[in-house]
Amino acid sequence: MAAAVVSAAVWPGHAAEGRTLPAPRMEAGKPLMSALRERHSTREYSERPLPAQVLSDLLWAAFGINRPASGDRTAPYWRHVMVMDIYAVMADGVFLYDPKAHALQPYLNADLRADTGLQDFVARAPLNLVYVAHGERMQDISPEERRLYASVDTGFIGQNVYLYCASEGLVTVFRGAVDYPKLAQALKLPDGQFVTFAQTVGYPKG
Ligand SMILES: Cc1cc2nc3c(=O)[nH]c(=O)nc-3n(C[C@H](O)[C@H](O)[C@H](O)COP(=O)(O)O)c2cc1C
Repeated sequence: MAAAVVSAAVWPGHAAEGRTLPAPRMEAGKPLMSALRERHSTREYSERPLPAQVLSDLLWAAFGINRPASGDRTAPYWRHVMVMDIYAVMADGVFLYDPKAHALQPYLNADLRADTGLQDFVARAPLNLVYVAHGERMQDISPEERRLYASVDTGFIGQNVYLYCASEGLVTVFRGAVDYPKLAQALKLPDGQFVTFAQTVGYPKG
């Protein structure tokens, strides 16, 4: 898979090998009660890209490893079976978040932002997170239950993203208005994997 072209201003020195993220800043952000007070959905975004440090903090808050000994995450997940992947869909490519390496792995060298939703702002916002479930890892349950539990896993991640954004002056919206077959095809998802939701993140407009 070809690495995406990387903007040197935002990602110094990591053009060829994907994006090694800086360590997340554990002391950053507002107190939880302030973040909850400011949590809200936004549908107008600046086109300003997100710096590497912000992306690092955001992805760690979303679903990073907070207990290295076990590999467990900042959000709870169904039956201790890891089914959720997060794709970062940006102007210069699609990247898969690798929580163990805390890195973005190059996935597709194309701007698929417009494919991540049915609302116009998704094509211009700097980042759309796409939540993808490995249905094939969810054994002994029906397809409806797979979608249910994967959606609950996603909801916890989505709220982490909301709170991080509220805490850092970013804006976001969790989204189900997605052309699911079209997005799965654009992302070349293998059989068994499916998109649960998407979530746009960026700076406020104006
Ligand atoms: C499951 C779910 C799906 C949603 N889908 C969309 C969507 O496709 N587009 C959108 O603009 N907002 C979407 N939202 C955001 C809600 O519209 C929003 O959270 C709600 O109006 C309350 O506003 P607030 O988040 O500012 O409190 C979704 C929220 C949830 C929980």
